[in-house]
Amino acid sequence: MEKPLGLFSSLPIDWNPFRICAPGEKAPYPRALTTKEGLGDRLRFVAFAEKQAVVAFSSAAEIFSDSPIQTRELWLALSKEEEKHLSWLIQRMKELNVSVDERPQSLALWQSFDHCKTALEFANFMAKAEDRGRQAGEQFYETLLKIDPITAEIFRKIAEEEKEHILLAAKALEYIE
Ligand SMILES: [Fe+2]
Ligand SMILES: [Fe+2]
Repeated sequence: MEKPLGLFSSLPIDWNPFRICAPGEKAPYPRALTTKEGLGDRLRFVAFAEKQAVVAFSSAAEIFSDSPIQTRELWLALSKEEEKHLSWLIQRMKELNVSVDERPQSLALWQSFDHCKTALEFANFMAKAEDRGRQAGEQFYETLLKIDPITAEIFRKIAEEEKEHILLAAKALEYIE
């Protein structure tokens, strides 16, 4: 069933512990990766992408409550998995003394979910988002390997798990089609 536009961004979401850009404010450009601050910027950015995925999957299960139960269960399971990735990144930020709310984050990814008016559109969108997540994880792993092998390993593990997410997201899509 087709729903009105703006379903996701109209939800009251608690983005804690992240800080969100004010309306019209642009997220600051990440600092050089060779600095502690620059590494922190990447960790914060990816952690916030995971946070948006956590909320998107769990919100979709409610917004598209008329979609197959198998699909909604997969979305809720994926939400939990992204929560795990989020916790790994937050933990690493703590170890490196990177404060989560030091810089504001863009809600662009979250707002892009508003394009999804049906469960099918959302399922398609997330299948692609999971693959983008995998690619980003692999790139961060390679870039960070010489700078910070511990953080690099976290990104490698995330990329590895995103491969499973791609399969689960495809399954969630199949139940709708
Ligand atoms: Fe993830
Ligand atoms: Fe994922």
